Amino acid sequence: MWVSLSIEAEGCLLKRILVVDGGSLHAQEVARQVRKMGVYSEIVPAAAAEQALHNQPSGVLLVGMVSPRIEQVVAHMSVPVMSLDDGSVSDSVLESFLSQACGSERDWNMDSFLAAAVERIKAQVGSGRAICGLSGGVDSAVAAVLVHRAIGDQLTCIYVDHGLMRAGESEQVVATFQGRFGIPLVHVQAQERFLQKLAGVEDPEQKRKIIGIEFIRVFEEEAAKLGDAAYLVQGTVYPDVLESGMAPGTLVKSHHNVGGLPEDLGFELVEPLATLFKDEVRELGEKLGLPREIVWRHPFPGPGLGVRCLGEVTKEKLEILRKADAIVREELHRSGWYDKIWQAAVILTNMRAVGVQRGARTYDYVLGLRFVSSTDGMTAEWVRVPYELLESISGRLLEEVDGVGRVVYDISPKPPATIEWE
Ligand code: XMP
Repeated sequence: MWVSLSIEAEGCLLKRILVVDGGSLHAQEVARQVRKMGVYSEIVPAAAAEQALHNQPSGVLLVGMVSPRIEQVVAHMSVPVMSLDDGSVSDSVLESFLSQACGSERDWNMDSFLAAAVERIKAQVGSGRAICGLSGGVDSAVAAVLVHRAIGDQLTCIYVDHGLMRAGESEQVVATFQGRFGIPLVHVQAQERFLQKLAGVEDPEQKRKIIGIEFIRVFEEEAAKLGDAAYLVQGTVYPDVLESGMAPGTLVKSHHNVGGLPEDLGFELVEPLATLFKDEVRELGEKLGLPREIVWRHPFPGPGLGVRCLGEVTKEKLEILRKADAIVREELHRSGWYDKIWQAAVILTNMRAVGVQRGARTYDYVLGLRFVSSTDGMTAEWVRVPYELLESISGRLLEEVDGVGRVVYDISPKPPATIEWE
């Protein structure tokens, strides 16, 4: 069933535009365009629009094809309605629509969101205690800092270090949250525990499941030690909400909850970012003073390097991969390409190849580079980086990382290939 977020919007936001999504690829773009003009917008699939239309939006945008029934309902509404048959609208047309719908009350922005979110979190949690699992990613980081701003030390963060993070990431999490923001943080050193569970396991799906289950176990154990927390902060963002309201797709990989937490842990959820798009989460993160490296970090899978170290995960292979990954990130930053790429994965394949170094035969790992552009990870294109960059990366990898004997660049689009190799 479709769950409208308008209840959350009620009371703190006077004006709201309803974007009715008639199966167009553009609904999210239109919703963001509205927000950029200072009005809160919400998307509802056409099939579930009738109820939302009764919630008194300030205006309605019909994007793509909607049923005659919906057209009938909106025809009787006393608010401005506009149909965008091809799914897009120019800024000037949208401007005049919003003036008509909202007059001069166009004050939705990250400052007003932040002020309202702090009040909402205070009202929800009261004097209770909350916990938040940090993953190193931007969503949980922003959620944690936002909640800390609202309830201070009533929040404790838990960082489960599964040993599958990239070089320097755990140190950065600790330095940022504990050091810079002074947020109470439990840093769980669970590296050995995960390695033991993964020993001898080669199947990708099994690896994902083991990492996911173990992550939840460790988190539960730590949460239990804290005792009296009744609230769990999650970095759920608006696209997650939209996605979960849609018909479930077929399983490609046991995915997005791996390295995340299920909803039935027995806590009341605090999801302060559930109405925000990813770029808005980043804007909020910057406003809250999070470091650039966290705010603009590429997406990283929950199971971490576990699914980039193909086949069995061992300490030795992880070390090779971690070193290689750090060099690749360094080169991407140095060349200015990091911010132009959506995600850059370094893959330690389970294959070795013959080579020759300083006159001697070598038999070392083949390393894969997967640089992609994407908007949501559902589809992806490989990035046409300059040969010179590939040359400097492969030169450094072959020179500096023992165990790497060959470097290849992945030129497969998604679909049919997925972004991660496992
Ligand atoms: P695929 O490999 O399916 O990945 O094309 C699409 C995007 O999802 C990320 N990914 C994950 N994220 N937990 C996550 O939080 C996971 O288990 C997981 N698996 C893949 C992947 O990095 C890419 O951005």
